[in-house]
Amino acid sequence: MVERIVVLTGAGISAESGIRTFRDANGLWESHRIEQVASPEGWRADPELVWQFYSARRTQARKCLPNQAHRALAELEARMGSRMTLVTQNVDDLHERGGSQRVIHMHGQLNLSRCERPLCETTPFHDEGEYVTRSAIPYCSCGGRIRPHIVWFGEQPFEVQGIIDALEHCTLLAVIGSSGSVYPAAGFVNLMHERSTMGEKARTIYLGLEAPENADYFDKVIIGKASEIVPDWAWTIS
Ligand code: APR
Repeated sequence: MVERIVVLTGAGISAESGIRTFRDANGLWESHRIEQVASPEGWRADPELVWQFYSARRTQARKCLPNQAHRALAELEARMGSRMTLVTQNVDDLHERGGSQRVIHMHGQLNLSRCERPLCETTPFHDEGEYVTRSAIPYCSCGGRIRPHIVWFGEQPFEVQGIIDALEHCTLLAVIGSSGSVYPAAGFVNLMHERSTMGEKARTIYLGLEAPENADYFDKVIIGKASEIVPDWAWTIS
């Protein structure tokens, strides 16, 4: 059966590459509360702490390598071409390093930075810099400080309309390694569920270590490690 597929990945796909999931971090990231390091309020209160946190994550991500699950999705994309849309909540670049050509990073990218001023017209740029003191934080030519290109809590995820369009036209949504607790991504399965109740071909599958919070909405749940179950599943798709 010829599919059009949307794949949504979460922290679980990068866990075996050595990047800790948010679930495992238990609401604390490197001993900071999430609001301190991942919200606009946290940035305004202490940009130095925020950059120390993301600098450490840049260092960590550079040491990690893509695993079999990232590679299997790249091979799937090579076979399906434009019939596949890969969306990730992850800010690491393991999909790209695993060979994926087109990745929608709805929560931003660790290796990009941008001006903090929403009206500044400079575009996000590649940046592997690590800024651990207040005086090291770079400034934009407009005078705003440079911040990580990350979607923090309270901010709008990127490319949501494009993702919804892809969901409205796909036949299968596969979610990999996401606890189903952060919206809007956690609601993608509901959109598919509604399409299916209207008689459209819109199936859903979850692949991950444990059932996600929104497990009831999936047609099928496969439990296991991403590096083992994703390659096996990917070969069944054509
Ligand atoms: N293989 C497959 N799944 C795994 C593995 C593994 N090896 N290890 C862990 N998992 C699963 C866990 O069972 C869990 O359900 O991955 C999921 C990770 O869930 P979260 O840590 O909540 O990650 P995610 O859903 O991606 O978080 C969403 O929350 O903090 C925000 O912006 C951040 O993008 C992130 C968002």
